[in-house]
Amino acid sequence: MGTPTLTPRRLIASVCVALASWAVACSDSTPAANSEQDASSLEVGELTGPQVAYVGQAACFSLEVTPSDASISTFWGDGTSDQLLCHTYTAPGHYLLSAEVSSAGQKQVRSRGLLVVTQPLALAPTHSSTIALDPEGSGLWVVNPDNDSVSLLDAGSLELIREFPVCDHPRTLAISGAFVAFTCQDSDEVWQLERLVPSDAKRTQLAPGSAPYGIVGDPRGRFFYVTTQSLGGVASIGVGAAGVTHSVQTLPDARGLGMLPDGRLFVTHWRSAAEGARVSLISAPAPGELGEVQSLLLPPELGLNSDTNNDGVPSFNNQIVLNPSGTQAWLPSLKANNQTGLFRSGKDLSFELTARAIVSVLEVPGSLDQLPRERAAGRYAFDDLDFASAAIFTRDGGLAFVAIQGSERVIALDAFTLDNAGSIRDVGKAPQGLALSPDGTRLFVHGFMSRSVRAYDISALGQGDPPLVAEGATVASEALTPEVLLGKQIFYAAVDRRMSKSSYLSCASCHLDGEGDNLVWDFTGRGEGLRNTIPLRGRAGVGSGALHWSANFDEIQDFEHDIRGPQQGTGFLADSLFHSGSVDTPLGDPKAGLSVELDALAAYVNSLSGWGSSPYRKTGDPAWEATRARGKQIFESAAAGCGSCHSGSTFSDSGFDPPKLPRLHDVGTLSAGSGSRLGSQLTGLDTPTLRGLWKSAPYLHDGSAATLRDVLITRNPNDRHGVTSTLSEQELDDLEAFLLTLDDFEP
Ligand code: HEC
Ligand code: HEC
Repeated sequence: MGTPTLTPRRLIASVCVALASWAVACSDSTPAANSEQDASSLEVGELTGPQVAYVGQAACFSLEVTPSDASISTFWGDGTSDQLLCHTYTAPGHYLLSAEVSSAGQKQVRSRGLLVVTQPLALAPTHSSTIALDPEGSGLWVVNPDNDSVSLLDAGSLELIREFPVCDHPRTLAISGAFVAFTCQDSDEVWQLERLVPSDAKRTQLAPGSAPYGIVGDPRGRFFYVTTQSLGGVASIGVGAAGVTHSVQTLPDARGLGMLPDGRLFVTHWRSAAEGARVSLISAPAPGELGEVQSLLLPPELGLNSDTNNDGVPSFNNQIVLNPSGTQAWLPSLKANNQTGLFRSGKDLSFELTARAIVSVLEVPGSLDQLPRERAAGRYAFDDLDFASAAIFTRDGGLAFVAIQGSERVIALDAFTLDNAGSIRDVGKAPQGLALSPDGTRLFVHGFMSRSVRAYDISALGQGDPPLVAEGATVASEALTPEVLLGKQIFYAAVDRRMSKSSYLSCASCHLDGEGDNLVWDFTGRGEGLRNTIPLRGRAGVGSGALHWSANFDEIQDFEHDIRGPQQGTGFLADSLFHSGSVDTPLGDPKAGLSVELDALAAYVNSLSGWGSSPYRKTGDPAWEATRARGKQIFESAAAGCGSCHSGSTFSDSGFDPPKLPRLHDVGTLSAGSGSRLGSQLTGLDTPTLRGLWKSAPYLHDGSAATLRDVLITRNPNDRHGVTSTLSEQELDDLEAFLLTLDDFEP
């Protein structure tokens, strides 16, 4: 198996400097100074041997030398040298290896370049991804969520061989044996297609509201595992089978999956809470099984705010990728600053302190009884880049590539030191998936928003930009209208100077997938206060009334203010237009119709209708139907009084009365952190819709209610927010059963 010899320039340079006393080792062959070469007396061949060596195992090299009694000194690059040609390394890394041969006053040096030393490789760990190469190396599979299709591309030419119309919103896929399997988020299905012989799909219908996302093949074969994100679980499905074999449901917001051949299954939890991000570990003693669940907290980082780093928690943990030796798990994500702000820390959130791309690295112990731990050196923060959406290791584990979504870049990192080993720009819009060819020379980048796959020749990485060798479209025809497509591209593009300064922020930074990050931001510096991110999906932009908790915007085009302000973008409106009339005031003269891009952004956000289905809905279960009916009755009762504000089909009275007076209510939830509205006094809040509550905890404008019970009781001591103190525990349970099922099935 050809292993890539990647020789990043920086690495070589640093090794050469470190070994300056015999810097000759950096060039291939250097005769000893002043010695007249007598070709017949000293002949030295090439230093040959393996490209990869393993920690704790002897690696042996060969060198042909005449005369045979010439003396050889081997410099192993780890600070040791000896007269041998075999060596046992004690730590993983990139080592520059060379041998110095001398005889009768002559000297020659042979360098082997960089040797990758890793822990012994685990048999191909697996991870969920939007793109996967088949084992033959000839076909590339990708998901097309907006087109409800999956595509097969020729891995050489990247031509679209076939686009298969499938179920609703396929998100990730995995290959095992003869099957490619993928999750369909919006129709709660897992489909499997036979890769080589087109046939009917094997379909697994999951419980309504499961919202499956991640899928991996068990490296031992025979089973796929999927995350059921909304249901908060993981399920196993036989390869080529239909129907769930085993499932667990104690994994809230379960998203990405990675698996080791010893049966350890790693699960990311997509969104974080104030106290941090979580990764769970399940051991599957045999393929398809699901054992005990353990979980690990990645707490917030503090004290890091600078122009190259920021405080906060890993957010939007889409993926977890294990290195080939199974000793590390990498979580590419974004670090969301839920620590800093004028109220919380006295320091305002700036464009460069709000969020940035990071990788969290977990050290995975050899023993199944021990939990992984974060590496001591901490999380790796990227400068001037927005969101690490995906990662992949080279086969030898020496390098990792990380896709940066809104910056439209791929960064290569030395997998041992995390030193930057190269970068590729313009990889397509919103890259969300990476794959490598079996010989390790080609990197495939799936650009979700350019509907493209681009292939780069990475065999000479570090010696200039890796050349683009092929590019292909993933869909035959686009499902979105041109305006919505443009708006969605803008939504994801941090690299657009109009959107943000230094490529740090886009709308997707806090609203990936059009959802919310479930975090509470300190927007005091924006003239607001502590603000719980509002998910966009379902709300249809202005379709559910005024925007924001304080009703400070009335059109999506008003986001021009956030773009020019906190995000430090140059803005999408021409300055002359922005500063005409009262256009530059939120709720002032309309901005609609002034910029093609802002109108497109608005078209996309306004198109986000459809809440999905609630996993709590148990249609057809008589006990549940009765509970819910009682809850509905309480909700609609004059005694509780919920409907006076949460009215109509949006469950909200949100809107403006002439001239532009927002309908705000003080329901007793305002506190010191609530801040202001448009920099002035905050007298109350816009009534939020109650649809989608099953996936939007924490609740209230400042996230001060962790659960619905907190909204109804803890944060409602004086019945100012509906009369709930008279309700029994049973009645509160009934009311919650109703509230948790306000989904697309509710008229
Ligand atoms: C740093 C995180 C962050 C970024 C970046 C961000 N948002 Fe938000 N978004 C929030 C938070 C927090 C709220 C709630 C704030 C409030 O109500 O004052 C919110 C609320 C919204 C709402 C209100 C929904 C409703 O029904 O009231 C919309 C629409 C929205 N954001 C769109 C966008 C767009 C468009 C962009 C890009 C220009 C964007 N957001 C960028 C965090 C963010
Ligand atoms: C006077 C108007 C009013 C009444 C009456 C009212 N609400 Fe509310 N509701 C609001 C406002 C305003 C908020 C936002 C409060 C905040 O964010 O601090 C809210 C927030 C909520 C939330 C949290 C939503 C979220 O996304 O975080 C829930 C749940 C809720 N209300 C349920 C109810 C129920 C159940 C009742 C009846 C028992 C009720 N409300 C009565 C106005 C009202």
